[in-house]
Amino acid sequence: MTDESSSGAPLVELTDVAVHFGGVRAVDGVTLTMREGLIYGLLGANGSGKSTLLGAVTRLNRLTRGSLCFDGADFTKLPAHRVAHLGVARTFQTVRLIDDRSVRDNVSLGVDTLDRSRRKEFAARVDEVMERVGIAESARLRPTELSYGMQRRVEIARAIVGRPRLLLLDEPTAGMNTDERDEIGELLRSLKSEGFTQLLVEHDVQMMVDVCDHLFAMNLGELIADGAPESVIADRAVRESYLGRQANDA
Ligand SMILES: Nc1ncnc2c1ncn2[C@@H]1O[C@H](COP(=O)(O)OP(=O)(O)OP(=O)(O)O)[C@@H](O)[C@H]1O
Ligand SMILES: [Mg+2]
Repeated sequence: MTDESSSGAPLVELTDVAVHFGGVRAVDGVTLTMREGLIYGLLGANGSGKSTLLGAVTRLNRLTRGSLCFDGADFTKLPAHRVAHLGVARTFQTVRLIDDRSVRDNVSLGVDTLDRSRRKEFAARVDEVMERVGIAESARLRPTELSYGMQRRVEIARAIVGRPRLLLLDEPTAGMNTDERDEIGELLRSLKSEGFTQLLVEHDVQMMVDVCDHLFAMNLGELIADGAPESVIADRAVRESYLGRQANDA
């Protein structure tokens, strides 16, 4: 884990961000900062607003209020495709791959989201990235011929092929067994060592503590904790709103 005092400059700053769907306050007044080079984790019960918050940052979800800053510049009004050009990429909570194209073609789609001037450079990196995430041998297969865990790796490859500065991962290990989870955890740590700043949404608290440098916790659209992993999971409001519920469910 990285001591935050030694980490980089603020990369992303959210100020009073809200996303309401009619009367549903999915995200309601979130202010937070993410610094370059760290892995951040976002915890919260089902429906607490985690995926919506990722959608706010990528501009897929319209902001009801608040502002977004990337590398010191306001991007609150940028459309989603321009946010991708800034260097923000995400994976989705459910696998979203094109089934009638090869694994390699699916990874290449990540290049298409880039600014035109950068596409050629990154198209040359597709094979290297597939190697990097452990899917090179499946390059010619269809996504449906892969295990679920491998399909999730294809999504990570598609997200990182353009070397985003911020990688948003929405439950990348959902449905995986413990070994597969550990492998993804290791992959994310190694991406960190290559300089990828990450925001990881996960329900597995142990994985969050093992992988993340800093945690955020949400409840009912609001940020209820923001700090070092051990202090966030020990936080009373977090335990009551989330961890207690998990223990009861078990
Ligand atoms: N497009 C939408 N239209 C209306 N309501 C929505 C929409 N997207 C999300 N919501 C609602 O916003 C709230 C937050 O949902 P969100 O998916 O962000 O939660 P989450 O923390 O990601 O949950 P989970 O852990 O189950 O993935 C929920 O009440 C959800 O029903
Ligand atoms: Mg979600």
